[in-house]
Amino acid sequence: MSKNIHKYSFSVTRENREAISGHKAMVLWFTGLSASGKSTIANNVEKELNKKQYNSYILDGDNVRSGLNKDLGFSPSDRNENIRRIIEVSKLFVDSGKIVLCSFISPYRNDREMAREILGEHFVEIFVNTPIEECIKRDPKGLYKMAISGEIKNFTGVSAPYEKPLMPEILIENLSLKESVKKIIDYVEKN
Ligand code: ADX
Repeated sequence: MSKNIHKYSFSVTRENREAISGHKAMVLWFTGLSASGKSTIANNVEKELNKKQYNSYILDGDNVRSGLNKDLGFSPSDRNENIRRIIEVSKLFVDSGKIVLCSFISPYRNDREMAREILGEHFVEIFVNTPIEECIKRDPKGLYKMAISGEIKNFTGVSAPYEKPLMPEILIENLSLKESVKKIIDYVEKN
């Protein structure tokens, strides 16, 4: 951190903003392999939240990597920095009283633990556990094909690790899109 930084304490709080939103702020953190369905589920959860008048925003790997994080690649340290910045952005969104849906492979347990530490009670880990065989079959962007042939290096699930969450708040496994969305919306409404 730079020297001579003095944080200003602003008067309007998260609680004040949550009161206007009419709900608590939280971070729904989707983790899983590329093509596991994270963004599709997040998109449909947000559509449902929006219908119910919840204030929300989606942060997504491919989108954030084309702007804020376009200087980062896929080495472990770049992925760590990718996630660190997303966590900090999410923290600002939480302070603004929103429900943030984060959709990132986030393959390293340590990086997700950093999210849990920084976001505290607001962090909800959602593991989209789609088997690698199914992701390879889907391959919507043709990336698995390139990874398997060696054209892309450090590809998660093929030539880079994915460390499964041990105790996610929500596990999405063998569920249809509709069932997945319902499971997550039920959790949000209960919490
Ligand atoms: S993360 O590992 O740092 O969390 P993130 O979710 O931001 O990844 O970005 C993943 C997306 O980048 C994938 O869905 C895919 O489209 C693209 N991508 C390009 N190269 C790679 C790679 N080597 N490993 C994984 N995803 C990659």
